[in-house]
Amino acid sequence: MSGPGFGPRKPIVAGNWKMNYGPAEARAFAEQLVEPLSHLRSVERVLCPPAISIDVVRAVVGGSGVVVGAQNMFYEPRGAYTGEISPVMLQGLCHYVILGHSERRTYFGETDELVNQKAIAAYGYELRPIVCVGEHLEDRDAGRTERVLTEQVRGSLAALPIDRLSDLVVAYEPVWAIGTGRAATAQDAADAAALIRALLGEMYTSEAAARVRIQYGGSVTAENIAEFAALPDIDGALVGGASLKPEFVEIVRRTAAAKGLPA
Ligand code: PGA
Repeated sequence: MSGPGFGPRKPIVAGNWKMNYGPAEARAFAEQLVEPLSHLRSVERVLCPPAISIDVVRAVVGGSGVVVGAQNMFYEPRGAYTGEISPVMLQGLCHYVILGHSERRTYFGETDELVNQKAIAAYGYELRPIVCVGEHLEDRDAGRTERVLTEQVRGSLAALPIDRLSDLVVAYEPVWAIGTGRAATAQDAADAAALIRALLGEMYTSEAAARVRIQYGGSVTAENIAEFAALPDIDGALVGGASLKPEFVEIVRRTAAAKGLPA
């Protein structure tokens, strides 16, 4: 799998289905999406079903240009880790894996260190990590957004292969915007993306950081996507609730349009 290379970053829109759609429902929904999505080739389109539905979705989208991502994984390749899935199991089935989503951090106690181990493991098995970062409302209200994002970026994204940062996607998802219907402003997203890219520039090089794709996530809809996708530093979106509906196709289309690409 080759990365987007040195040219302009290819926009990427990923649908995070979270704990929705077991195999039968996932197949039916993917069948509904695949035809319209197959035409929107200027944007990378990723469907992230629950692990148990990955295989059926992959079978439906095979050959369409739409690819599949996982929502999480453990970093060990195999062993006595009841309930976990490993990078070895995902390799070849998925192109992407979401790591460090705020729901994983909040409900399952995932730390930056753990997320970093997972991101490093993803690279070892040809899985492209979509690493999520984002501040809580208390952080923002207390003026700590920059400090929190800095800690998360430095902690979660350390020690990755510098020559493969074009395979890295960072999703800026302010926790207060996830599932609340209250999206961030375009300015919030632009500021966060600029900070994330500057930090990656310090950790790696500015050339390598320029190849990383940064998504906005948090209450993205077909109505508001253009505001975010129009920002030069934002390369697409990680979509939760609206990815469970046919609206997802429209979000992809409007991302392409906002970037001046064929839609
Ligand atoms: P939302 O979720 O679009 O439902 O706010 C985004 C996410 O959690 O990735």
